[in-house]
Amino acid sequence: MAFEIIGTGRAVPPKKVSNNDLAAQIDTSDEWIRSHTGIGSRHYAEDTVACSDLGIEAALNAMAMAAGYTGENPAERDKAAAEIAPTIDIIILATATADYYGTPSTACIVQDKIGAKSAAAMDITAGCTGFVYGLETAAGLLAVNPERKRALVIGAEVLSKLMNWDDRGTCVLFGDGAGAVVLEKTNAENKGILKTLLYADGSGNESLLMRRGGTRNPFKKGEVIDTGICVEMNGQEVYNFAVGAISTTITALMESPVEGLGNITVENISWIVPHQANARIVQAARRRLRIPEEKFYMNIEEYANTSSATIPIALDEMNRSGKLKKGDLVLTVGFGGGLTYGGNIIIW
Ligand code: ACO
Repeated sequence: MAFEIIGTGRAVPPKKVSNNDLAAQIDTSDEWIRSHTGIGSRHYAEDTVACSDLGIEAALNAMAMAAGYTGENPAERDKAAAEIAPTIDIIILATATADYYGTPSTACIVQDKIGAKSAAAMDITAGCTGFVYGLETAAGLLAVNPERKRALVIGAEVLSKLMNWDDRGTCVLFGDGAGAVVLEKTNAENKGILKTLLYADGSGNESLLMRRGGTRNPFKKGEVIDTGICVEMNGQEVYNFAVGAISTTITALMESPVEGLGNITVENISWIVPHQANARIVQAARRRLRIPEEKFYMNIEEYANTSSATIPIALDEMNRSGKLKKGDLVLTVGFGGGLTYGGNIIIW
């Protein structure tokens, strides 16, 4: 049994905000952001756009590709996606910035709008590792029921609406976007998602959190709120955790033989697609692991950190630009709030 990615898609808001644009609003500079993170710009959703809107666009693009359409005509794209919609059995949407708090899930909103009437739908909260967790969850749900054939896995975020603009060490790091894949259960051998490792270290839950609004710290009647729900981060703690998480995950993915593939060496790997949180984090882990720079796909310069969306956005960019070829061995590696981390081995 194999779980193959048969379509990829992404959706990034057109509004691009450069470091200099931010520097006109808050006390920061292009030089500081670039030198500390590798970020050059990020894209922000308009006020009327929520997480599901980006997730739907990415999903339709992935579904259209699964139906054989990769063009840019919206009507043709929707027609192709509509062919796939009734065949989707599961929708998993990873996000930290859902349309609504608690319920309904953003996945259910996507399910309705894309017309995937026979799909079960749920969200995953695993921070920036959400897409890595989502792929394994979807594969597991496909595996246990012979009736299920196809899953849609989406990472979607509108982080710009949950920033504290007084916290310059955090707000400059994040952007909005979504990526999606269609996963199909097939009888192929040595294809698709071959192995996934998932980890959590909940002792670090306070290093990266949205403190207010939940049952731990609910808003109180009459309370004056000057900062809404927002991402709070201990940058240094997350930095140290992240370098270790990348190193541990890649080492563990390569350590034990993979069924049908044997041992994986750096030479076998075509691409490592890391979560794009900070170029310096990836550089530090890469040096520790002694893996050449050209094996890592990076696009943080354009999009900044879109949390659960960075990996599927990268996969779609690579796929559509022809960088990913059939048979390529791809390692994903994610890390983020929770704290969570993990990675997938995929034969493209
Ligand atoms: N512009 C200008 N100066 C700034 C900015 C900014 N945007 N942010 C912080 N500074 C200043 C600080 O005020 C401080 O100044 P001071 O020395 O006068 O007090 C100085 O820069 C150094 O601040 P540090 O916080 O020590 O900077 P550091 O080198 O640690 O870099 C950073 C901060 C980039 C946030 C780093 O800690 C980091 O990358 N951490 C990991 C963050 C991350 O990747 N998070 C997401 C991962 S998980 C997920 O994706 C959800």
